[in-house]
Amino acid sequence: MSAKYSKEAAAGFWSRRLKSTDPLAAVLTYNAPKILNESYDKWERESLKKALSPGLVGKKALDIGCGTGRISLTLAKLGANVTCVDLSAAMLKHLNFEARKRKVASKIITIESSADKLPFNDNLFDMVTCFGLLEHLPAAVRRKTILEAFRLLKPTGKMLAVINNSGSIFLKNSYPMKEQQRNGYFVSLVGLDWLEKICEKQRMKVKVLSANPNYAAMHYILSNSVDSLTTKSQEGIKDILRQSLKQDLEAASISKFSRFLASHFLVELRKAN
Ligand SMILES: C[S@@+](CC[C@H](N)C(=O)[O-])C[C@H]1O[C@@H](n2cnc3c(N)ncnc32)[C@H](O)[C@@H]1O
Repeated sequence: MSAKYSKEAAAGFWSRRLKSTDPLAAVLTYNAPKILNESYDKWERESLKKALSPGLVGKKALDIGCGTGRISLTLAKLGANVTCVDLSAAMLKHLNFEARKRKVASKIITIESSADKLPFNDNLFDMVTCFGLLEHLPAAVRRKTILEAFRLLKPTGKMLAVINNSGSIFLKNSYPMKEQQRNGYFVSLVGLDWLEKICEKQRMKVKVLSANPNYAAMHYILSNSVDSLTTKSQEGIKDILRQSLKQDLEAASISKFSRFLASHFLVELRKAN
């Protein structure tokens, strides 16, 4: 464990973040125009649905770093029994509220815990999801977290994770933090190269299923201008974002284009036989 990482400070940061903004901005891009976060949310959840094997009903899923439950609730709606782990009590409270509202509370269990040490037996889950968490963990905690996910996944199960594209021209000017900030925040660029290295050692197979090059380009172009545009042009922008999403969902997952432009990849991880 990194000596400088405080779970309490991280929990406090994420709970405060949820109280300070709308639920989507709290778990996606803080301060981004709402329509960009809505578009990114759709890319992740549509890509997730495409990646799911049929017959999720009654399957045991684990959502690590579940936040407000965008992913957990999507899985529960499709019939999975979902164990949702997060270290922020406020995030879990919001998730439970949403689960009741959407009538899936009986399919949800929430556990307040850090992701790097989880209170479950080995090989328990048919599916593990981990979206938007790994980049918020310092290296040592991140490594333990992914090993926990592999330990908990059944030999026949699959894990789905969203990871940064470290080759993205849009992310190349991001400055990874060396250590957690005093307010509890930590972010760093965690790419496919890191995941592939660890998977090779752990005998896990990695496959990229989806990428978001069109969305990432639109995000770059629009993120500073959308709020100041007129309502009429916002309608036009929504149309462009819908087209970008469609193209990202239909495109080959890891083309030359997506290697340069995508900001995120959805990857599938399976235990090698
Ligand atoms: C960017 S949000 C993503 C939430 C959700 N997976 C989603 O995609 O909507 C990151 C979440 O990870 C949680 N988190 C941060 N560090 C954690 C840790 N060490 N263990 C468990 N959860 C953590 C935060 O509280 C927050 O809810």
